[in-house]
Amino acid sequence: MRLILMGPPGAGKGTQGEILEKKLGISTISTGLMLRTAIKEQTEVGKLAEQYINDGKLVPDDVIVAIVKERLSQPDCEKGFILDGFPRTIPQAEALDNMGIIIDKVVDIDVPDENIVNRMSGRRVCKACGSSYHIENKKPKVEGVCDSCGGELQIRKDDAPETVLDRLNVYHEQTEPLKDYYAKCGKLRSVEGTAPIKEITASILKVLED
Ligand code: AP5
Repeated sequence: MRLILMGPPGAGKGTQGEILEKKLGISTISTGLMLRTAIKEQTEVGKLAEQYINDGKLVPDDVIVAIVKERLSQPDCEKGFILDGFPRTIPQAEALDNMGIIIDKVVDIDVPDENIVNRMSGRRVCKACGSSYHIENKKPKVEGVCDSCGGELQIRKDDAPETVLDRLNVYHEQTEPLKDYYAKCGKLRSVEGTAPIKEITASILKVLED
């Protein structure tokens, strides 16, 4: 299974990617998480990406395509993968096609803009492993502590309400056209993203059976 998870910032791509990775036994590749790790380690890519991310803008296509290409060449991707946050522009989708990679399904998690800002204000992420929580909808067992690795939970810099609005604009302008791109080749499936987390997982698994 080669799957793309699409949707606006905060749609739940990371949350569902984490669950599906375990259920389907394939790796989730999150470009956002890769970039945040690169920033933490202050690699060349991290230094370049930091300002774009903090401003809610997309990192240049050539930078992202290079890191995804390298990641997809690793052995764990041979049996399939879940892409979270890539592609995000038409040129990125074309670059993926040019790598000779055939995508099976593209699942769009649909959440209206008005729900997004509220969701983002309650999100907490692990400083160490990047796992995502919510102060009401997905609470950690111990407040402020990651269930997976025990790391400290923090608020993402780009979750400030004004940056979230910029990210939503970028999504509508540059990423949403991908829905048509994948609908034309019959790969797009949409799921309602405002339901509880478990119900969305069930909806995704159902559309994967089509
Ligand atoms: P990235 O990390 O990919 O950010 P994003 O797409 O904006 O998505 P988020 O991580 O914010 O949200 P999500 O959909 O994963 O939702 P989550 O599961 O956390 O990218 C960050 C930045 O990196 C970009 O802005 C860009 O600068 C750069 N970048 C990354 N990829 C790039 C690319 N390909 N090209 C160029 N630049 C790139 O859920 C959100 C919250 O809601 C959580 O608190 C969660 O617990 C909660 N939640 C989840 N599901 C539900 C539910 N069903 N009900 C209630 N709450 C829920």
